[in-house]
Amino acid sequence: MSSDDVTKQVFAPSSDFTSGAHVDAAKYEKMYAASVNDPEAFWGEHGKRIDWMKPYSIVKNTSYAPGNVSIKWFEDGTLNVSANCVDRHLETRGDQTAIIFEPDEPTDEAQHITYRDLHGHVSRMANILKDLGVSKGDRVILYLPMIPEAAYAMLACARIGAIHSIVFAGFSPDALAARVDGCDAKLVITADFAPRGGRKTALKANADLALEHAETKAQVLMVRRTGDEVNWVDGRDHDYNELVKTASDDCPPEEMNAEDPLFILYTSGSTGQPKGVVHCSGGYLVWASMTQEITFDYHDGDIYWCTADVGWVTGHSYIVYGPLANGATTVMFEGTPTYPDASRFWQVCEKHKVNQFYTAPTALRALMGQGNEFVEKCDLSDLKVLGTVGEPINPEAWTWYHEVVGKGNCPIVDTWWQTETGGHMMTPLPGAHTAKPGAAMKPFFGVQPVVLEPTSGEEIHEYPTEGVLCMKDSWPGQMRTVWGDHERFEKTYFSDYKNYYFAGDGCRRDEDGDYWITGRVDDVINVSGHRMGTAEVESALVAHETVAEAAVVGYPHDIKGQGIYCYVTLMNGVEPTEELRKELRTWVRTEIGPIASPDLIQWSPGLPKTRSGKIMRRILRKIAENDYGALGDTSTLADPSVVDELIDNRMNKA
Ligand code: WT7
Repeated sequence: MSSDDVTKQVFAPSSDFTSGAHVDAAKYEKMYAASVNDPEAFWGEHGKRIDWMKPYSIVKNTSYAPGNVSIKWFEDGTLNVSANCVDRHLETRGDQTAIIFEPDEPTDEAQHITYRDLHGHVSRMANILKDLGVSKGDRVILYLPMIPEAAYAMLACARIGAIHSIVFAGFSPDALAARVDGCDAKLVITADFAPRGGRKTALKANADLALEHAETKAQVLMVRRTGDEVNWVDGRDHDYNELVKTASDDCPPEEMNAEDPLFILYTSGSTGQPKGVVHCSGGYLVWASMTQEITFDYHDGDIYWCTADVGWVTGHSYIVYGPLANGATTVMFEGTPTYPDASRFWQVCEKHKVNQFYTAPTALRALMGQGNEFVEKCDLSDLKVLGTVGEPINPEAWTWYHEVVGKGNCPIVDTWWQTETGGHMMTPLPGAHTAKPGAAMKPFFGVQPVVLEPTSGEEIHEYPTEGVLCMKDSWPGQMRTVWGDHERFEKTYFSDYKNYYFAGDGCRRDEDGDYWITGRVDDVINVSGHRMGTAEVESALVAHETVAEAAVVGYPHDIKGQGIYCYVTLMNGVEPTEELRKELRTWVRTEIGPIASPDLIQWSPGLPKTRSGKIMRRILRKIAENDYGALGDTSTLADPSVVDELIDNRMNKA
């Protein structure tokens, strides 16, 4: 079947599934209409899905007005997020497993942590933080493997009102240092080592380096994961495994305002350094918990597994906060899809009888290439719903997921959202919508997507159509600001298209009114589901002494979705060698982290620039895509001959 035919296929949920689902087609229509016609009434009601210490009387107070963007939900209510994720379940499900921890080595035993256990762990960690001088409003950096202590630390911060900022364990010491300084962190919680895919990352050593570079004098709390030896700084470093032995498990949750920050999470944009996205306590938790329940059709007693890392927003909302607020059993997996071999995901599904499985297209593409026998030898009969996130899924991967993994029985939810949105924004609901491979389909309750004509910013009402994706009006899970820089918040999301939230993605609305995400329209690329600003890679490259100038673009990559293509102009007299290519690759890895590793580096004596000196990225993208026949207008270039040279020596001749 050609990929065009696949795209035209549709997959309706079975009547069996629909009849047991939280939301069917009729209910979706009714609830969606209510959510946009009267948001106050709708969210006034659904805000009650979580426990409030003091109930709210004001539901929504939001404005996208230029120069005065302000987003508040449930603003006079108070609550504690950790009490919602832990304490409130003790009476009804204290002995139910909250977290199943599946370690990197399949031969190591999995841990089943009940809600009662979780309460003890979180309270002890919270008391340790307090003893180290962390209090309400302070910032705490988490730089941890995917171990239960990561969840304990998040919830412990929430319990005492401290704001966590998680740094993915794959980031370099420099990236960590920038984030420590970015929020003036009081404490860094890390581990000795992070085992992953049979290898170990020296987290504590990285944290040591980071704190040497950082201006902020933060303390360190270290969890022993492997027990290997580490360097120790007396007075600064604290041993979690020692402190926890005597820590009290009595720590009453702090009363927080709905709009008090819960966490900061750095994410890449098209310009400058990553920005600290701020999410607050009330609206975020309502959004994370409601989407987790409805998008995955989660029912009491189900086992739910999201394969993300808590270093990304997916891990925040759909491993920890959403599922735990709902009293779910959530799997935390430390390893990788291909260790020890390509059946690991499916073995874990079989072992823990997973009902809802949520992963990224890049993982599916990698596993698909390994052959179906890795899937077929496992019993996947407990699977009910399959999800994807992070990047567009190609129809081939979608079909493989549906047929080989889901045996044709499991609805697939292709969830479009962003770090900024806190949770799902557009996705088919498994019991309500007929899925189309590759389509994000329908807005979640309260979400009002619009397609704008890119240059005029005019809203396009007709369909089918294509343009830039924006949101009219606010939803409870929306980010509130950029940490320490509200102006940047306004400029990034609300200035290109006035009175809308601009997502940075392009989109198509088809003849049925269903939405398809067409990819970023800015200089952000998506590498294996990881979001990266090309500007960040460029600034890492030019920081190398041999590099005069660099331009970075994405190009289509079979497994990663997009690969990183770098055009590098060397300083006068520097020899372009294979060694130097390797060195630059290593350099970027150390500056940012392995996820930013350049795939292709082309030596370019010059870059195509306009007469005013602006690099014409459109041309560089086309050459990187091996689509140089369609360069478009090059007449405004200062020196058109540069282009021929770049085409002749292009790296992606595939
Ligand atoms: C960007 C956000 C959402 C959590 C993980 C990534 C792309 C995300 C989809 C999807 C097509 C998608 C968008 C978006 N994206 N989900 N289902 N289909 N594209 O969060 O790192 O903030 O990245 O990821 O381009 O803007 P993030």
